Amino acid sequence: MIMKVANLKLSTKFSLAVGVILLLFCTTFSIILYYYLKNQVLTDAEEKTMIIMSQIRSVGAYVRETLRPAMFETLSKFGASDKIIIEAMSTTHVSLQVMARFKKEVEDYGFARVSENPMNPNNKADDFHLAMINYFSRNKNEKLWKGIINTEEGKRLFTVRPIIMEYECLRCHGNPHDAPKELLVKYGTSGGFYRKVGDVIGVESVSYVLDRDLANVKRIAFDTFFFGLSTLGILFLALQSTFVHLVTKPLNNLARTFKDIVEGKEKLGSEIPSSRTDEIGELTNSFNILSRHLYEAEEKLKKAATLEKQMMETEKLASLGQLSAGIAHEINNPLGGMRLCFNNLIESNMDEQSRQLHISTINSGFDRIQRITKQLLDFAKGSPLSMKMISICKVMDNVLQLSSYLISKKSLKIVKEFDENIPLINADSNKLEQVFLNLIINAIHATDTQGIITVRCWKEDNYCFVSVSDTGKGIPEGIRSKIFDPFFTTKGVEQGTGLGLTVAKSIIEQHKGDITFETSEKGTTFFVKLPI
Ligand SMILES: Nc1ncnc2c1ncn2[C@@H]1O[C@H](COP(=O)(O)OP(=O)(O)OP(=O)(O)O)[C@@H](O)[C@H]1O
Ligand SMILES: [Mg+2]
Repeated sequence: MIMKVANLKLSTKFSLAVGVILLLFCTTFSIILYYYLKNQVLTDAEEKTMIIMSQIRSVGAYVRETLRPAMFETLSKFGASDKIIIEAMSTTHVSLQVMARFKKEVEDYGFARVSENPMNPNNKADDFHLAMINYFSRNKNEKLWKGIINTEEGKRLFTVRPIIMEYECLRCHGNPHDAPKELLVKYGTSGGFYRKVGDVIGVESVSYVLDRDLANVKRIAFDTFFFGLSTLGILFLALQSTFVHLVTKPLNNLARTFKDIVEGKEKLGSEIPSSRTDEIGELTNSFNILSRHLYEAEEKLKKAATLEKQMMETEKLASLGQLSAGIAHEINNPLGGMRLCFNNLIESNMDEQSRQLHISTINSGFDRIQRITKQLLDFAKGSPLSMKMISICKVMDNVLQLSSYLISKKSLKIVKEFDENIPLINADSNKLEQVFLNLIINAIHATDTQGIITVRCWKEDNYCFVSVSDTGKGIPEGIRSKIFDPFFTTKGVEQGTGLGLTVAKSIIEQHKGDITFETSEKGTTFFVKLPI
């Protein structure tokens, strides 16, 4: 999910974030509003029921304290102390009558003045009021109870007070003998008598229907939610289009141009026109600067490459010139001697011995030219290798065998240190023979009589190594960088052409190997490294 959101476009992310924020905001605001208004409705209802309760108690108090004593006095004056006019003297009756009229005016209110065992059976308490009577009987200190009860007509807020027996009420609710006869005739003695002062004889309650007000509160909360959401939604759309115009579009433009440049559809150095001075403007300017820098850098690189190319051409020409000069020189030398002998042979009468000497000089001249051209051909063509699995030690043994005459002539000592565990390698044995032979002959030439030549073969990682060390005077510093150059030699015409190391290097490189050397006044070691 997080990955998916991360892959979304900037404008979609922005829309999602703002959408979620708006939804949360509207929901939270509506919930807070709902609870605030609900609380307000309950507080209002409580206050109203309390006012009505006070009103009804005031009516009851007036009946009890003023109207009833005055009526009893008047009745006894007329000799009718046994009489009672319930319509004017019963607090319960008067309260109920007043509230019945009140309810006609304001339907939402309800009033009850009930007892567990009332004189008038109509005033018997229902289950809820019975529970309230028990509650106040148990908790004598409690003088008021408020709460919401689910009734058949819906939710109602009830304010309930206990009716406590007072002394003035004992005449009608104490011993039936003391009560007005008319009361006994009307209601009998089964209920409402034998009360004691301080007894909780019933409860009176004022209730208020909450459903309509609560429904109103719900509707207001919902209306606010939807109205808020749609208003904020419009605001959000306006914001989003501003965001797209100010941010997304210029960024997309920038990204597209950048991509086009990278993919080569647009020329490097292309710029995006911008007159803005804000962050997007700065970004565009930076992009333009970067594009320009890249263009300049590319131009410089192109130029540098064309230099480098020219330099390589020049070097190639120079080495070609050197090579040609070398070849001309190397072939011209023996040719000079050969021409002299040839002229002598034709022009002068010479004895048989001199004739043979001249012919052999011409022959060795041919040999030399042939040797040079053969080596050159090998070098130039880089004739293909004939690869086989061969033992490097065996190749070296062959080479030592071949050069044994030269070695014994100089009374040199040969030290062999061969690691017999070197695996066979894939190589051209003839070519390697040529390389090793040149190294051995070079070492023989460099070493004075009775010197030592050490030949080593070993394996390291995925390479095998061959080294040829001599105890000669070493390679002078001034010529170290030239020994691999074609025709570079310090030897006489008879001994060397200066192509040995050039060809060796080329052969070893054909084998993906490497040839190096270390030299000092005490001698020289050549190392050949070949992949196994
Ligand atoms: N072991 C060595 N000790 C001292 N100098 C060396 C040694 N090996 C090579 N050189 C120097 O490097 C030069 C070039 O050697 P390279 O084998 O290419 O040619 P060369 O031996 O002179 O002639 P050739 O073509 O017959 O081999 C030699 O002439 C010599 O001066
Ligand atoms: Mg040589």
